[in-house]
Amino acid sequence: MATTWDRARLEGLIGAELSNRKFIAVSNREPYIHRFTEDGIACFRPASGMSTAIDPIMMASGGTWIAHGAGDADAEVVDQNDSLQVPPDSPRYRLRRVWLTKEEEEGYYYGLSNRALWPLCHVTFTRPHFDEADWQTYRRVNERFADAVIREADGEPAVVFIQDYHFCLLPRLLKERGGDLKILQFFHIPWPNHEMFRPFPWKEELLDGLLGNDLLGFHIRYHCQNFLTTVDRFLEARIDHEHSEITRQGQSTMVRPFPISIDAEAHARMADSDDVTARMEKWRKRLRLGNRLLGLGIERLDYTKGIPERLRGYEKFLTEHPEWHGKTVFLQIAVPSRSHLTEYQRIEEEVDLAIERINWKFRQPHWQPVVLIKEHQSQPEMMALHRLAHYMTVSSLHDGMNLVAKEFVMSRSDNAGVLILSRFTGAYRELEQAVGINPFASHEVAQAIAFALTMSPDDQALRMSRMREHVLQNNVYRWGGKFLSTLLRISDRFEP
Ligand code: G6P
Repeated sequence: MATTWDRARLEGLIGAELSNRKFIAVSNREPYIHRFTEDGIACFRPASGMSTAIDPIMMASGGTWIAHGAGDADAEVVDQNDSLQVPPDSPRYRLRRVWLTKEEEEGYYYGLSNRALWPLCHVTFTRPHFDEADWQTYRRVNERFADAVIREADGEPAVVFIQDYHFCLLPRLLKERGGDLKILQFFHIPWPNHEMFRPFPWKEELLDGLLGNDLLGFHIRYHCQNFLTTVDRFLEARIDHEHSEITRQGQSTMVRPFPISIDAEAHARMADSDDVTARMEKWRKRLRLGNRLLGLGIERLDYTKGIPERLRGYEKFLTEHPEWHGKTVFLQIAVPSRSHLTEYQRIEEEVDLAIERINWKFRQPHWQPVVLIKEHQSQPEMMALHRLAHYMTVSSLHDGMNLVAKEFVMSRSDNAGVLILSRFTGAYRELEQAVGINPFASHEVAQAIAFALTMSPDDQALRMSRMREHVLQNNVYRWGGKFLSTLLRISDRFEP
């Protein structure tokens, strides 16, 4: 059996192989945000799969994480280098904040990243929006982050670990500036096939930017293949499909799948704590659950997550199964996200209307079929809900991985509960014992709910224990370890 990866093993790898290099991570979203509250400045964790996954890697590696300082109190707590040690209560690494103007945030984050690349890569039938001014701003902001990385490396050898679609130009910019930098990037979202990518107006520059990486990772092989064919179509480059390697102007980029995960053990430990158990009671009362079985959905309010689709499925289920009226409740936690964009305002409205319709149609004097909470919940609160739920629905229309599914599983040391999971998530390729759905087909969602509500405890335990075993073995340290060992392997090959 393969040896388990944990923080100590990853620390060992970094200590033995990378101690002569600085470790610098770069992302748009920061792992800790400071905001003004009524009780003074408070520190929050954002709702971001990316930051959930990278935080434990940074805990193991130390080093510096460079990110956009987006909190209104962020500037109040940094030193003269715009940095602070995090996590605030037990510091393990440094967070260096980059400040963006409102115009930069508008063009680079809302515009190019979230109105162009996000819908383009997810292919969920929401049209991408391309604007030349946004592209110029995206370029400028990538350059500003390149400045920050170069300042941080300060002429020393470094590993630069870039996150996501906000920084497609950064790898090339860093390569051009020289220095002994090993550059790797992970795309936390899918890469579409070349036909879907075709409308992107600045294809060549974007792809060339990504080929500044020594190693480029996606969640699954399919996205790697999509990337290789996209480059093949639109760029002058040599593609070695067998070794999944692209060579352009004498420089090679290895493209590999690394399915991301969570700190499974730590998650399970916290989920089993007395604190979480106490919070379960609070939720049980708040939802007036009694003997009712709870269905649960937790995500950012994003059109890729398939929230209206899941509600249509639930509505169909209630229509076809009157025997369940009054006996089950669906709780949707929808965390407001990117609400500045019209597409997100529309999805919020659609969710509100669907819930209003369902509650109006089926409600009884002491029963409300769907409860919606539009507020970010802390990890212990989410864990309490995971443990309370009879089933959890993850109905993304398309998702690179989906870590919510893995979190739910790791909260269930009682081996009970059912995961209903979209077949269009990376997670579905790993969590084979989940109940698979096509979220676009409401009859499938309805059937899955009926199946979940009547599943025997033995069947639940069999499925849940296998999924837990898989996530425990394939945790985030394994992800980080494999990523870094691959980089080390290819670095050897390039060095004299
Ligand atoms: C996805 C992306 C992350 C992003 C997260 C939350 O998981 O891959 O990069 O942080 O969504 O979105 P936001 O725009 O709020 O950072």
